[in-house]
Amino acid sequence: MTSTISNCEIGDLRLVDRLRRIFPDSPLRLGVDCLRLGDRSIPITNGILRFRTGDGYNASFARQWHKFAREQIDAVNGTSLTRDRFLRETEWRLEDLRGELVLEAGCGAGRFTTLLAESGAELVSFDYSTAVDVAAANLGEGSGAIFLQADILDMPFRAGAFDRVFCHGVLQHTPDPAAAFRALDRVLRPGGRISVDVYLKDGKIQPWKAKYLWRPLTTRIEPERLLAFLEWFIPKWLPLDTAIKRIPFFGRYLGAIVPCFNYFYTDLGRAERRRWAIMDTFDALAPAYDIPVTLDAVRGWFRAAGYRDFIVREGGNGVVGNGRKPLDP
Ligand SMILES: C[S@@+](CC[C@H](N)C(=O)[O-])C[C@H]1O[C@@H](n2cnc3c(N)ncnc32)[C@H](O)[C@@H]1O
Repeated sequence: MTSTISNCEIGDLRLVDRLRRIFPDSPLRLGVDCLRLGDRSIPITNGILRFRTGDGYNASFARQWHKFAREQIDAVNGTSLTRDRFLRETEWRLEDLRGELVLEAGCGAGRFTTLLAESGAELVSFDYSTAVDVAAANLGEGSGAIFLQADILDMPFRAGAFDRVFCHGVLQHTPDPAAAFRALDRVLRPGGRISVDVYLKDGKIQPWKAKYLWRPLTTRIEPERLLAFLEWFIPKWLPLDTAIKRIPFFGRYLGAIVPCFNYFYTDLGRAERRRWAIMDTFDALAPAYDIPVTLDAVRGWFRAAGYRDFIVREGGNGVVGNGRKPLDP
């Protein structure tokens, strides 16, 4: 069994060695309930290094991922949606990750964490909120992953520590997506690979963008109350929503007036479709930040960081940016 913070022997040299590669501070000493980094003491609870506590502006995500802890895990829902999306969007081969030190930023409930850990990567995964507890529980003991609760905009890592950095589904939910990208680039080694995605701002009218009409209202509602409302409303609305969205052409526009993420076109069963509709409608309406970015702006992030080898394109979740950090910045 591989050691994680939660099941390690305090003298486990491989784990301590990995911690030394990640953190710049010294001396470094791993105790049962804290990690000493220089003169700082970082608490460890539930096997997770807490560089920050509480859920802060990500309270809605903490609620979302504790409630919908396993829905998006391929092995649970019987699909390969997460695996397919990962391979398509990153253009990475899972076998290339074996033995590499990989950082996952904003893991949420851990749909990608599971995949990354299974690849044999030496995985470090974090989230701003206590959603990280859900990801850690989903992986279970023996995964070898190190989990932290930390902020992308204030990461505790050594510059150039990681061979790869993966951050999907997250940047738009930070207060400053460009600064978050710069922070991720800082911890990637020269020659290392980064894969990010962010919601697309393209100036086009799209039915799913109706969420931006509702968000000024819904982001003011307590996440708990908004979720309770959606749990009551969505099951009642879903059959009508499906009928509207099946109307040729006009259906997608009429169906956008009332926000409802409806997976009627998938093979998901009826109960699953209901749960996913509640989950994703909440995911669209509740987060404090939802900042879409243009393709050109993301290209500008890569250029400003000195990348020459990168591709920025439209992907399933908006803009995808994949790049290899130059060896000679
Ligand atoms: C939509 S979820 C995506 C989770 C996961 N990457 C996935 O694709 O399933 C966004 C996650 O980003 C996290 N997040 C938002 N701002 C963050 C920040 N500044 N630092 C780290 N995580 C952050 C939230 O807590 C939330 O779990």
